[in-house]
Amino acid sequence: MGSGLFLQLLPSTLGGIAFAVPLLLAFVQIATYAYNLFFHPLRKFPGPITSAISNIPLTAAGLRGDGVYWIVDLHQRYGEVVRVAPNELSFSGNGAYRDIHGHKKAGLRTLEKDPQFYRTPSGERDIVNGDFDDHARMRRVFAHAFSDRALKLQEPLFLTHVDKLIKNMREALIQDRRHKFDMVQMWNFTNFDIMGDLTFGEPLGMLDKSSYHPWVQAMLSSFKFGVYVHSIRHLPLIGRVPSLEGLLLRFCIPKKVLGQMALHKNFSEQRVDTRLEKQDARPDMWGLVLEKEGQNGLTRQEMYSNANLFMIAGTETTATLLSGLTYYLVTHSTKLQKLTDEIRSTFSSETEISIERLQALPYLNACLEESLRMEKKSGFSPFSTGPRACLSKNMAYHEMRLILTKVLYNFDLELCEESQSWIQHKIFIMWEKPPLYCRLRPVS
Ligand code: HEM
Repeated sequence: MGSGLFLQLLPSTLGGIAFAVPLLLAFVQIATYAYNLFFHPLRKFPGPITSAISNIPLTAAGLRGDGVYWIVDLHQRYGEVVRVAPNELSFSGNGAYRDIHGHKKAGLRTLEKDPQFYRTPSGERDIVNGDFDDHARMRRVFAHAFSDRALKLQEPLFLTHVDKLIKNMREALIQDRRHKFDMVQMWNFTNFDIMGDLTFGEPLGMLDKSSYHPWVQAMLSSFKFGVYVHSIRHLPLIGRVPSLEGLLLRFCIPKKVLGQMALHKNFSEQRVDTRLEKQDARPDMWGLVLEKEGQNGLTRQEMYSNANLFMIAGTETTATLLSGLTYYLVTHSTKLQKLTDEIRSTFSSETEISIERLQALPYLNACLEESLRMEKKSGFSPFSTGPRACLSKNMAYHEMRLILTKVLYNFDLELCEESQSWIQHKIFIMWEKPPLYCRLRPVS
């Protein structure tokens, strides 16, 4: 009898639950929207209503790969401060960058970085995502590898790879005078080989093989994965609970990507181990760090995670800048001519080109500054500013000047028809750059 009553009640109870749960969820959702719109501490800041109530517009722009354009457009419509998501503001005004990232007055601590953006899924700490104290310790240790003295010692290493690039280009043109060079690839191969040599004590052989190393390919495709991680973190609750995030990622990430991530991790760990075993006094990252600090400054895990970081921070950045600058030069022939004239009239032989002398070329430096949009007025700072600003700004400039100068000293460049509208790209943490085809004519 009792169980009969239970069975009779069950369907209506289940029906009730099926009805009540969506209703409750809808109520919670509407209440959240209302809170975000009318009671949230950021309610008075301008921006679209959809962004004020929900993370969806920001997340969708990130997933589409046009987050940067979307935010620029919002600033044009709403002004210098825009509410881009319920809990997020974007600032574009003069001085905002300095206020947020700059050194603080005595007694005030630097703002901590947002873990929702910077935390890695595996929780590894490196110089970029480390908290205040870890960051200060790591920055002090790595400063030895990016000092002016280090740069001077590293110059022959840079030259080896840049000269290999020039040699490869000349050889390709001997084979086929009309060869089309994908300049994005050329800059990537050179920068990855240089950083590989600095970080692992040996290059990745990309210039030798004229192809991407599988590890680099895995790394480049992992940027998109980073966007998925950020999207998952914008989901209610999950963004605050790392273990839930890990669980969800394990279900969502395709097996192929998981395999690539394992490859990425093992590869760099083995390379760092091999380099450290050599106890070499080369002026690469570890030679310079160990010379000053011994093995005490960092744990082995921190050495691995920072090696990974350098391979990202020191490659795509400079290669992207050089790609953009190349495009603007080949589409503005008078500017390209002016730069080429400056380079060829300064150096009567290629062996005279040195990182020291390149600092004094005004038009070369103006071109780099313009590409970085370092106009003081805009308040924008491409290398960031303050205690967490780029540790390697000087090295980046030296490297970019050297690579571009050597290529323009040796070749005349011309854009191929199919790359005329190259400049519009999607952004998945880094710019997703299609090939930038150019024809090169060797200068005798
Ligand atoms: C055009 C080239 C480059 C640009 C525009 C650039 C830009 C930046 C920016 C904006 C940051 C701050 C990142 C953040 O806080 O989220 C940064 C940090 C950093 N960059 Fe660069 N970078 C460039 C080249 C390089 C190179 C060649 C290296 C060499 C490994 C490098 C190493 C680093 C390191 C180690 C940090 C972390 C500094 C810290 O947190 O104390 N960067 N860079």
